[in-house]
Formats: sequence, structure tokens, C-alpha cells
Amino acid sequence: MELDRAGLPRHVAIIMDGNGRWAAKRHMPRIFGHQKGADTVSEIVEAAAEWGIEVLTLYAFSSENWGRPTLEVDGLFSLLIEYLRSETERLHEQGIRLTAIGDRDRLPLNVQNQLDQSERFTRHNQGMRLVLALSYGGRADIVAACKTIAREVASGNMSWQDVSEECFSSFLSTWDLPHPDLLIRTSGEQRISNFLLWEIAYAEMIFSPVMWPDFDRHEFQKALEEYQQRDRRYGLVCGKPASEVQELGRQPC
Ligand code: FPP
Repeated sequence: MELDRAGLPRHVAIIMDGNGRWAAKRHMPRIFGHQKGADTVSEIVEAAAEWGIEVLTLYAFSSENWGRPTLEVDGLFSLLIEYLRSETERLHEQGIRLTAIGDRDRLPLNVQNQLDQSERFTRHNQGMRLVLALSYGGRADIVAACKTIAREVASGNMSWQDVSEECFSSFLSTWDLPHPDLLIRTSGEQRISNFLLWEIAYAEMIFSPVMWPDFDRHEFQKALEEYQQRDRRYGLVCGKPASEVQELGRQPC
């Protein structure tokens, strides 16, 4: 079935979970699950761009993932480099601009170089923005923003009275993105795991039981259709300011 393009989220953020369990179920090493997961990335990116999603942010490597066995960490970065090498041109053809958030300096040099190259190659594209969260942690991003603001205040470039929610958002690594409307986590786990903590304040959440390697275009479409059924109220009545609700009287939303 065709996806109704009306009312799609502008920004979809995904926690790609379940690669390891997917592989274990098949008596395969965890990296096999990540390999299959990388194929899923290509499929979901292509679908999102085709459907007109403005921003797709993928949680590819968290700050906590550094604690995994070296073999797995190295394997994940090899897959990432392979993905960037083989897909950058295709992303470019689809008008996609690729960027990354997270502690870039901590990434292996060859990953940093490949990222720089892919970002440079796609930087003028006006289509979907693909954001890879790499060595990313939401708390660390918030702390980094606090430090920058403190420095700016201490050096007299801004006053503490200037700090508002909007101002604070502009110091985060996602400063140039709309905040996510929809957060999807695959594999049945129902946690945020330090992902975009500030930015998901009003995101709708969908926890899919499907493991990431099996999360195909069809599953993605199902999640978007579920999102389209949601009533986003932002703490208001019917999602409207009081003046408008009073005019609505007793009418259903
Ligand atoms: C979580 O599953 C997944 C990750 C930590 C890595 C995600 C990486 C990829 C999908 C492939 C490479 C990325 C790109 C952008 C090409 P898990 O290992 O925690 O699964 P488990 O909970 O079943 O163990």
C-alpha cells in the first residue's frame, strides 16, 4: 500500500537496536548482525528520502558503545567506512546531505577522514539530511552546550538572562535541525539510551518489536502510519491554545 504523504514527521530519529540478538538467533557472530544492519540502513535511508522526510538521524554508535569488545568496535567502524565509501555517491544522487553528530575527535582517524570526505561531497545537497550519531551521548551534548554558554557569559559575549530554551537549543550539536517528531526504537526494548535527550521532549515514540536487520521499508511505513494516527497535543487541549479551544466549546477535537 502507498504511504499517505500528508502529515509525515519532518524529523525521524531511530535507535537501531537488535543486531546482536538477530545474529545470536542464527548462531552467527554479532558482527554478522551489524553487517545485515548496515544493509537495513541503506534501505531505510532510501525510503525516507523517497517519502520526503526532511531529517533522518540514526544512532549508529553511542558514547557507551566504546565499552564493547574491541573486535566489535573495530568491526562497526569498518562497516561504517564501507558504508560511506560505497554509498556516498548514491546519497549524493538522491540529493541527500550527510552530516554527523557526536564526539568526532574520539573516532579513529580513518573514520574521521572518510566522514569529512562524505560530508564535503554532499554538503550542497538540498534533499534529505542524514545525520549519523557517532560516539554520541545526549548528556555529553547538553554538558558541552552548558560549558560553551558559561564561557560566552564569562567572557561577556552574552548575558545569563539571554539563556532561553531556544538559545540553549542553538548550542547543541543539533542546532540546525528541527527537533525529532518521531523516535523509533527497534528490537522491543523501550529505552532512550542517552539519545537526543533534550531534542525528543515532544517526539512521538514507537517501539517496534522487529530487530533492526529485519526492519525493512514495510516496517518503516507501518511506523509512519502509526505516527499519522497519533494526536500531538504538546500539553495543550486538542493541541490548540486556550483561545481557540474556548471557541471550540464542547465539540470533539
Ligand atoms: C545496536 O544493536 C546497534 C549498534 C550499536 C550499532 C548499529 C550499527 C549498524 C546498524 C551498522 C553500521 C552503521 C551504519 C550507519 C552503516 P546491538 O548490537 O546492541 O543489538 P543487541 O541489543 O541485540 O545486542
